[in-house]
Parts: sequence; structure tokens; C-alpha cells
Amino acid sequence: MEPNREPEIEGQAADHGVPRPQSLAEFNGQSAAKDNLAVYIASARKLQAPLDHVLFDGPPGVGKTTLAAIVANEMGARFHSVSAPSLKQPADVFAMLSVIEAGDVLFMDEVHRLSTVLEENLHEAMEDFTMSLVVGEPGSARIVKVPLPPFTLIGATTRRGDLSTPFRDRFGIAVHLQLYTQAEMELVVSRAVGKLGFVMEKEAVAEVARRSRGTPRIGLRITRRVRDFAVAAHDDATSAVKVTVEAARASLDRIGIDEDGLDATDRRYIEVLRDRFHGGPVGLKTLATAMGENDKNIEDSIEPYLIMKGIVDKRPRGRVLVKKPNPLQGFLFPS
Ligand SMILES: Nc1ncnc2c1ncn2[C@@H]1O[C@H](COP(=O)(O)OP(=O)(O)OP(=O)(O)O)[C@@H](O)[C@H]1O
Ligand SMILES: [Mg+2]
Repeated sequence: MEPNREPEIEGQAADHGVPRPQSLAEFNGQSAAKDNLAVYIASARKLQAPLDHVLFDGPPGVGKTTLAAIVANEMGARFHSVSAPSLKQPADVFAMLSVIEAGDVLFMDEVHRLSTVLEENLHEAMEDFTMSLVVGEPGSARIVKVPLPPFTLIGATTRRGDLSTPFRDRFGIAVHLQLYTQAEMELVVSRAVGKLGFVMEKEAVAEVARRSRGTPRIGLRITRRVRDFAVAAHDDATSAVKVTVEAARASLDRIGIDEDGLDATDRRYIEVLRDRFHGGPVGLKTLATAMGENDKNIEDSIEPYLIMKGIVDKRPRGRVLVKKPNPLQGFLFPS
């Protein structure tokens, strides 16, 4: 696994020393999404009704799980969390729904991985707040509709397109989270630096933000690594560590993240596309095989940033390397 794609333990209040934001006010960036959510939450609270079901979609590490917990906090609701792939049969769905109380938030991660049968079990629960149970012996079995307390399902997915239309349509609120802008990432990095209790020059914050692939999870991780290099080099344990822009650059170079925020996997993607497929167009599956990578991982984790940076384009005939002016041109298309 690549160093910047290590999985994180979900559902924890703090991510390696940096507490997850607990309120919308503390959640940096994504202002369009936050503003709308604030309105829906305020309305639901005034109406004393549960919030409509919410679907968060966006690339890994942009704050879907964090926002789901924030929504529950802001609603003053209990938060239950489940990962869709852990649900194997209808009984699992019924067991999960049976512990829900009025107004609770049920967070379901990776909703695109729910099987069709289980998805249909959920449709009824989402729409009518009932579930149909089969009772009795085969032959004399009958279906009993059990009422459920009204609740809010919050789904998260990196692949919104994999959800069936009927399922997608049952989420009244759909929120698309994008990769973060430079200014937004600077806020995320500054907050992390503060929470970790050290000091970073303004330009160093900008540098770390620039190399974070627009992703808070990566921003937090490389902030911790930059901190580690600074702490290790610091001989006076009593005074606060201050990271200069030069120190930040040197640390980031050492961990293999270049000035464009590209890491070793990104560079490999570009090299394979450039050298084996002459810059494309090439289909995703072929490219994935050539890289020895999983195609879903390429599509979810690698490509969004390369596309945002204008390095790669998805065209009808496949992936294409886009010619870029300096400084990338030399790297992409060496003479
Ligand atoms: N807007 C933000 N401001 C500050 N920290 C953030 C923000 N968004 C995410 N984070 C932090 O980044 C880390 C990753 O966020 P989170 O786990 O919510 O992402 P995710 O979208 O659920 O990722 P995945 O798709 O992998 O499940 C967490 O430590 C979280 O606290
Ligand atoms: Mg998550």
C-alpha cells in the first residue's frame, strides 16, 4: 500500500492527535454544502421532525464520515454507524433497524456496496418507516409489517453512480463533496497544526496545503510527518517547534510528495500512460492491469486529483494524458 493511502480507523473522535471537527462551524471548507445542510438542520429542528435522508458522495478522505457525525451532533441525535459490506442478509438489516429510536441518525458507509436484496429491504424502511418481516413456518409463512420510529439514514459513497436510481432517489438530501481548494486546505492544515501544538510559518502551511491533493486526510497526514521531521531535528525540547517553508519543502520531498502534490502512485500512473500507451487514449481496465492496481482504486483515489490538476482527461475512448505547460511538460512528454 502506498504511504499516503493508509486506511484510517473510522468513527474515532480524533485522527492521530487531530480531533475531528464536531460542528459545522469547525468543519473547514465546502461552504456550499455546509450552508445548505445548516438550513435543512435548522428547519428539521424547528419542525421537530427528523432530517430527511442524506447522501454524501465524494472522493476518499474529504470528510463524508466526519460530516455525518456532525449532522447527528447538530440535530442532537444518537449516531449509529454501519458499513454496508458488513450487512450480509435481511436479518442483519432488521437487527440494525430494530435498535433505532425516534430521531436517531443511522450512518451507512460505502452504501454503493449494499446488495440489491438488502437495498430493497431498506427502501421500505426509508420511505414508510416500516419493515416487512416473514413470520411462521415455510408453507404457512406470512408477512408482517412492523412500524419503525422515524429516523435519518445518512449514506456515504465514493461511487454515487453505482447506486440504483430508486435507492438514490430515496435520499432527499444529496451532498456532493469536492476536493478542497488551496484556501480551504490551508484552513485544514492550520487547524491541525494548532491542535498538534506546534507552529508553522504561513508559507509552510501554504506549501503543505498545496501538496495535499485537495484532501484533508492527506493534509493531516503530511502535516504530522512534517512535524515529525521538525521535532526530530529540534534539539531544544523546551521551546516550541517552528516549521519554516524550507523545512516543510525538505520533509515533503523526503516523503516523496512533489511540488504538484503528486506521490509515487500518481507518477507511476502518468509514466504507464505516457510510456506504455503513448499518452492514451486507453481504457481504465487495461491501464489498471498494466499498473497492477485495482481499477476502482484508480478511479476513486488517483484520478480525481490528476483530472482536477488538468494532467489527465477522461474521454469517450479512454484516459488521455493532457499536454500541460511547464513545469509538468518536461515530466509528461520528455523530448
Ligand atoms: N473539512 C474538514 N476540516 C477539518 N478536518 C477535516 C475536514 N474534512 C475531513 N477532515 C479530517 O480528515 C480526515 C478524513 O475525513 P473522513 O474520514 O470524514 O473522510 P471520508 O470522506 O469519510 O473518507 P472515506 O471515503 O475514506 O471514508 C478526518 O481526520 C477528518 O477529521
Ligand atoms: Mg468515511
